[in-house]
Amino acid sequence: MTNQPAPSWLADAVLYQIYPQTFADSDGDGIGDLAGITEHLDHLAWLGVDAVWLNPCFESPFRDAGYDVTDYLRIAPRYGTQEDLAALVEAAGRRGIRILLDLVPGHTSDRHPWFLAAADDPTDQRYIWADRQVPRFVPSPGKRPGYYLPNFFDFQPALNFGYARSLDDEPWRQPVNAEGPQANRAALREIMDHWLPVGVAGFRVDMAYSLVKDDPGRAETSKLWREQRAWLDRHHPEAVLLAEWGRPELSLPAGFHADFLLHFAGRAVRSLWDNGEGMTSPSWEDGTCYFDPQGRGSMDEFLAAWRTGRPAGGRGHVILPTANHDYNRLATGSRTPEQLRAVYAFLMTWPTLPAIYYGDEIGMRFVPGLPDKEGSRLEPTNNRAGSRTPMQWDDGPNAGFSTAPAGRLYQPLDPDPGRPTVASQLADPDSLLNLVQRLIALRRSTPALGSRGAVEVLNTGYPFVHLRGGTHLVVVNPRREPAHFTHPGLVGARALEAHGISVTADGVHAGAFAYGIFELSR
Ligand code: NOJ
Repeated sequence: MTNQPAPSWLADAVLYQIYPQTFADSDGDGIGDLAGITEHLDHLAWLGVDAVWLNPCFESPFRDAGYDVTDYLRIAPRYGTQEDLAALVEAAGRRGIRILLDLVPGHTSDRHPWFLAAADDPTDQRYIWADRQVPRFVPSPGKRPGYYLPNFFDFQPALNFGYARSLDDEPWRQPVNAEGPQANRAALREIMDHWLPVGVAGFRVDMAYSLVKDDPGRAETSKLWREQRAWLDRHHPEAVLLAEWGRPELSLPAGFHADFLLHFAGRAVRSLWDNGEGMTSPSWEDGTCYFDPQGRGSMDEFLAAWRTGRPAGGRGHVILPTANHDYNRLATGSRTPEQLRAVYAFLMTWPTLPAIYYGDEIGMRFVPGLPDKEGSRLEPTNNRAGSRTPMQWDDGPNAGFSTAPAGRLYQPLDPDPGRPTVASQLADPDSLLNLVQRLIALRRSTPALGSRGAVEVLNTGYPFVHLRGGTHLVVVNPRREPAHFTHPGLVGARALEAHGISVTADGVHAGAFAYGIFELSR
């Protein structure tokens, strides 16, 4: 079965992720909302982003920041209404921006009516119930005896999509075509069928890899998504599905239009950005990062993952995010603002689709030492709250850190003149924000730099040098120590965006934290 090609806009897209809680608070209740996003669309349009992914904005007790849904078909009242979403979609569309929602297929909240019913009714098969205590399973909270399988936190019971393998002594393992698993597949289609007509462009799919249990090679999970994609191609051919999977070599053949490289799936992302500061986890393998001021990293792990995941024949895309709501911002720990610029020179000239996590365009900092907010803390060293602080529009009353009292995510902030804000950076032509805006515009106006242009890596050490479309040369030196690359023939190349680079007859000299994008003379 061959899928429809991905909508062509996706190939040129620059993505932007909004965590609705802390992006913009239009009504001053201390929590961001959809109307707040609508009010700030001009920023996104000016920046040049094409599509915005919103973290879950459905009814939820917010014990995992909205990834614990109680009604997939209702906007959480704290964010507004379906009409507010429609207004956002319409206002964004007028600016050429598409809106994507977050689909959470693998689990609900334990307060979802489906789960409340299942916990009282031993015949209900929408979740996975064992008759005895086995590892990971949690005691039933209802009249039904037994134990349910959670998918993430205990209060997120796994929806039953069946098991790829049966085991005689685990009779709760149902095949993927059993009634419960099929009802859950139908429910996914119903959810998509509800929101796509509102005008959203598609979904980021939470834990997309996790649906069918005990699934070697994710073969049955992949079949499930191929089925959903075939349905989508028939009924909503313009819609896109972006996977939270981190293995494009599996997710793209499974029908996703694109997949995010992820900090927990191999080291591709961490080998670029992770400086070992901010959130850490015992489950993350040790290693250095390439964007390291001491130049101790290597591009090899990233390049290997990208080469493995890169789809053949343009069928799907790999997304490279600056960060996300589960992971460190670029500006974490000792990384300074001047070190962020080379990151963006690379991000906007590499054939992956760039995804900017809100605030990273101004170099917002990861904030250590915050209390748990809405389930942010996963491990003692892994508190996601530090990457979820309010967008720093300006120093006004909405600016603040999420140390606010319970129920509020914003609080007024003591003035801190050193803190990056959108307002201050807009006014400064040399700011990171203005650089990111120019780089996005350059990517858009130069097809060779986009996802469809050819790429040839000329140097994998310091500086990293790559050629795009045979016409554009990119040099990044993210370390403090200068670096040289011998490449005669650059004289006469036109610098489109450069800092700290000089070109001589024998090659390129890149100073500390330098970057350059050159159009080669023909
Ligand atoms: C991945 C989401 O990105 C994360 O924020 C959430 O806690 C888990 N999935 C559970 O849904």
